[in-house]
Amino acid sequence: MDLHNKAFSTRAVHAGERVKQDRFTPVASPIMPSVGYIYESMDELDAIFANTQPGYIYARYTNPTSSAFEHAVADLEEGEAALAFASGMAAIQAALLASGVRAGSHVVSSFDVYGATHTLLTRLFAELGVKTSMVEISNLEGVEAALKGSRPTALLVETISNPLLKVADLPALAELAHRYGAQLLVDNTFATPYLFRPLLHGADYVIHSATKYLAGHGDVLAGVVVTSASNRARMFETNKLTGGTLGPFEAWLALRGLKTLPLRVRQQFANAASLAEWLSSRPEIAQVNYPGLPTHPQHALARKLFQERGMGGMLSFELRDATRAKAFRFMESLQLCLPATTLGDIYTLVLHPATSSHRTLTDAQRRQIGIGDGLVRLSAGIEDPADIRTDLEQALEKINA
Ligand SMILES: Cc1ncc(COP(=O)(O)O)c(C=O)c1O
Repeated sequence: MDLHNKAFSTRAVHAGERVKQDRFTPVASPIMPSVGYIYESMDELDAIFANTQPGYIYARYTNPTSSAFEHAVADLEEGEAALAFASGMAAIQAALLASGVRAGSHVVSSFDVYGATHTLLTRLFAELGVKTSMVEISNLEGVEAALKGSRPTALLVETISNPLLKVADLPALAELAHRYGAQLLVDNTFATPYLFRPLLHGADYVIHSATKYLAGHGDVLAGVVVTSASNRARMFETNKLTGGTLGPFEAWLALRGLKTLPLRVRQQFANAASLAEWLSSRPEIAQVNYPGLPTHPQHALARKLFQERGMGGMLSFELRDATRAKAFRFMESLQLCLPATTLGDIYTLVLHPATSSHRTLTDAQRRQIGIGDGLVRLSAGIEDPADIRTDLEQALEKINA
């Protein structure tokens, strides 16, 4: 099907599908769990091994269901090609390696990123000889100074940051990264391609934890990187050795979820916006972090980048006079919202970053970012907003009880 010039919601439904079989074309891509694939001739198999002909060889390399998912995500992110991985973290390390990060390289990263991303760089990659400078991404002068000083291989940022909801000025960061010879790697998990497509603004790699909004139903772990065909080929060769490949069952669930991405995120973004406004008026809450609030330091930038599409479905807030015990009491009192360690689902989810998503950081690293014991992150689901508000209200009332 020619999806050229079709709207985002149309492409979300059809992209990646209708792969012709011998005598028919399935409407929805089937799950293909075969580990091995055979061909009429050994020459054909040899050509596929050599990448001179497309095809499937062995499930660790890839499988037809993952290919369908990859085509769909590449289409939605408006990139040349995509490679799917077994998790978002597998996707992040693959993109870093493909960008050329090796022992002796330098990386500049926003310090406000998902905790495992932070620790991957500051612990595992550090042990392997990669130096990382952590920067405040909203301070472009500071980012430029770090780029100029270290001439890094990669600049890594999140479009909307986890957990403080900072917005990255991606057009400006792409220009800066390229000026100093770095590739720009963007984790677009919080924003989704519905809100923003970083490759159109100069990014070299776009990464998703597809576990979150892309798959959207809290039942599959997956990751994906969208980039140029040549970068994808590099990741593919490495992944054949490291084996962080997405399985066909997971790929099928992720592709199925992708079809309703626009429908889901419109409701999630609207719910998050109304909750952010309501939470801002509550006496138990000292601060709400949400790009849609006029008080957000990058509200104007968010409007410029995201236009009328919304401001995302994620927010975080500081409980007043915060202690860990208070935050835990709040979370334990919730009856509808789920205190589960994930985001971007149809369910409304709350999380305590200091003890979960950012647990692997040191106290000093959390202090640098601004993650205190009273910070709570909320991922708006698709439930009725009044029901979510009622649940949050009764839990807030119990904090000081
Ligand atoms: C922004 C962001 N990127 C990457 C990841 C890692 O994804 P996964 O859990 O699929 O490995 C997460 C997980 O929460 C995340 O929040």
